Amino acid sequence: MPPVPAGARVRRAASSDLDELVALEQRSFSSDRLSRAQYRRHLDSDTAMILVATGHPRPLLGSAVLFFRKRSGVGRLYSLATRPEARGQGVGAALLEAVVNACRHRGCRALRLEVRTDNAAAIGLYERAGFQRIGRYERYYQDGADAWRYEKSLD
Ligand SMILES: CC(C)(COP(=O)(O)OP(=O)(O)OC[C@H]1O[C@@H](n2cnc3c(N)ncnc32)[C@H](O)[C@@H]1OP(=O)(O)O)[C@@H](O)C(=O)NCCC(=O)NCCS
Repeated sequence: MPPVPAGARVRRAASSDLDELVALEQRSFSSDRLSRAQYRRHLDSDTAMILVATGHPRPLLGSAVLFFRKRSGVGRLYSLATRPEARGQGVGAALLEAVVNACRHRGCRALRLEVRTDNAAAIGLYERAGFQRIGRYERYYQDGADAWRYEKSLD
């Protein structure tokens, strides 16, 4: 796996990242986007965690949105995105590792996610990180695309 770009680091997002988070969302996803209001709410929530990979000290290289449910031992990775110019350099893998660590820290026994069945780059990343395919959901996304559901056991 290629190293994360020199000087990059992963940290929890702050409200000062809001503009860049929304801009990255727009560039990364064509449907099922999180709105600015949703990002603002998730930045200030006990049941959400947004992680960002940043350059030195900016710009934002990538982000991950993670949800927890009260009394559930399963974390949910809702979204993972790397800025197009920074892809293929390990940013996604670094964010994913940080997401797994955050879930462990929170005491989760598993981490789940859904991914479009045609998203080869993301599927490869998840499978290399030890996620296993546990289901298929037809017309899961707003644009009618199907999803695979993946899970990684954290025991
Ligand atoms: C999926 C995504 C987050 C990966 O981020 P990234 O920073 O490029 O990830 P990494 O550099 O850590 O790893 C990418 C891996 O995918 C591989 N890859 C890239 N494009 C690929 C493709 N079309 N098919 C298969 N593998 C591909 C790379 O070679 C690399 O593999 P390696 O680790 O063996 O070298 C990024 O492509 C992205 O933001 N896509 C748009 C948003 C998205 O689809 N998010 C996931 C669904 S929530």
